[in-house]
Amino acid sequence: MILHIFNNAEEIGKAVANLIIEQVNEKPDSVLGFATGASPVPTYKSLIKAYNKGKVSFKDITTFNLDEYCDLPKDDKNSYYTFMHENLFNHIDVKEENVNFLNGNAEDTDAECVRYDDLLTENKIDIQLLGVGRNGHIGFNEPSNKFTKGSFKVRLSQSTIDANSIYFDENPMPHYALTMGTVSIMKSKQIILIATGRGKADAIDGLVNGDITPSCPASVLQLHPNVHIFLDKAAASLL
Ligand code: GLP
Repeated sequence: MILHIFNNAEEIGKAVANLIIEQVNEKPDSVLGFATGASPVPTYKSLIKAYNKGKVSFKDITTFNLDEYCDLPKDDKNSYYTFMHENLFNHIDVKEENVNFLNGNAEDTDAECVRYDDLLTENKIDIQLLGVGRNGHIGFNEPSNKFTKGSFKVRLSQSTIDANSIYFDENPMPHYALTMGTVSIMKSKQIILIATGRGKADAIDGLVNGDITPSCPASVLQLHPNVHIFLDKAAASLL
């Protein structure tokens, strides 16, 4: 695990974007795993800037997103589908048919999870971008008593509902989501996790120094051979 500590989120965004650009320029048909939330937004801004300057093209990449809310229309302003399109996909040349999401509105969620896991088996993720929840969740793998394997439907924890409900000003936040499982995330060739702010310091301490335990799902990353953790000083303050 390699730690990179920066002064602020913008610097992190530039550094992470550079790693992604290097990857895509080396292998134009890279498979990229993307995350939502505030943490990766500066990275997405830097990717868009680089694309506009002609430094990279995303026309042959395939993307997989980590998670999606259940029972929220795909085009709702708070769906992760909308988030990714507004913050990245609408501004670059990725092909819509190469963009993959879990369908949180699928009637048969088990079949939907199998469909996604089959795609993930066919398309090995080159770089998986991750944020981390204040409670140590990755994707929507909440603290529990066992590590999760493939994609599944999860009931969100109160900590996650409290953290994310600020985005839901009109409608109540969904309490369920579909997420890639921990073992699927761990199969990515490289993992880049971004965390900023004091609110993430406990989770980062657990991730880096804690026991490997499903009560802090991010701690499993200690077992991955190629993980880069990008932090600001506040998120790194307990290390
Ligand atoms: C959400 C997402 C995660 C994200 C995390 C942190 O619940 N499901 O993928 O990493 O919360 O979000 P933020 O970066 O906004 O703190």
